[in-house]
Amino acid sequence: MNKPRVYVTRVVPEGGLAMIRAACDAEVWAEELPPPRPVLLEKVHGIDGLLCLLTDQIDAEVLDAAGPRLRVVSNHAVGYDNVDVAAATARGIPVGNTPGILTETTADFAFALLMAAARRVVEGADYVRAGKWRTWGPMLLLGHDVHGATLGLVGMGRIGQAMARRAAGFGMKVVYYDPYFDAARAAAAGAEGSDTLEALLAEADFISVHVPLTGETHHLIDARALAKAKPTAVLINTSRGPVVDTDALVDALASGQIAYAALDVTDPEPLPADHRLLALPNCLVVPHIASASWATRTRMAVMAAENLLAGLRGERLPNCVNPEVYGSR
Ligand code: DGY
Repeated sequence: MNKPRVYVTRVVPEGGLAMIRAACDAEVWAEELPPPRPVLLEKVHGIDGLLCLLTDQIDAEVLDAAGPRLRVVSNHAVGYDNVDVAAATARGIPVGNTPGILTETTADFAFALLMAAARRVVEGADYVRAGKWRTWGPMLLLGHDVHGATLGLVGMGRIGQAMARRAAGFGMKVVYYDPYFDAARAAAAGAEGSDTLEALLAEADFISVHVPLTGETHHLIDARALAKAKPTAVLINTSRGPVVDTDALVDALASGQIAYAALDVTDPEPLPADHRLLALPNCLVVPHIASASWATRTRMAVMAAENLLAGLRGERLPNCVNPEVYGSR
């Protein structure tokens, strides 16, 4: 019997790739950059399954280019704002993602950004590398304490809660804003709910964003929101770039309305080398690597492969973002 044909839009860790290669006739895009749109449209033609990344826009045009054999789209990420889920659902195609497994790794990294920003780790390293370290200085590279400070979590899902656990260990006060989170669970996590985003922003020393990108959260952190923050506030974003209005953030950092931003995600992404954000001394940008540990990326690849293979077998995906495709099944 012919193996199902699948297209994999980038080389993912071997743990997942080996599972796919064993069960499928797989074509893997082996370049460093994502397949250009015309290539993607051509490569998906006639496939049974697609394993894609957050860098691939999977919309109605791609689904139609794939044609009627396509029976599963597996996204190698927990976030799936790159997939037009409604278009997939309308065609009866289940979409998989990789929730849960990257929670702790992402929270580790968000906390690393928080610490690096507070204690000027990157500036210190640059200072030494530039040959400027001539003596111990009582006023050299003074930063801000993390212990005793207030962490404001925008979003109290899995990663927000993992941040709250870390913050407790550092003796921080934790407040959160999440209209969808149940207050009883927050009390257990040692966090206090804030009724409004504005109130949270006014109180937090460190603001860490942990919401998915949706119509509701697009530019949630805009000029009005940033105007509420303390002038000493540090903004950390490991969610999705467009949750923050980039122009408003540039203005807020340049004018000293907030003190610092540490960003794992940006809008646009990737950020061009001549972008205004990169000219600001009070902004640290890293290339969307919060989940980038060997163990987590391998687990993500395995989970994405499990979703793909289940869909190809006609089984329910272990992690499906549009279970409505199954009807009452
Ligand atoms: C995700 O999975 O959504 C992250 O942004 C990348 O790991």
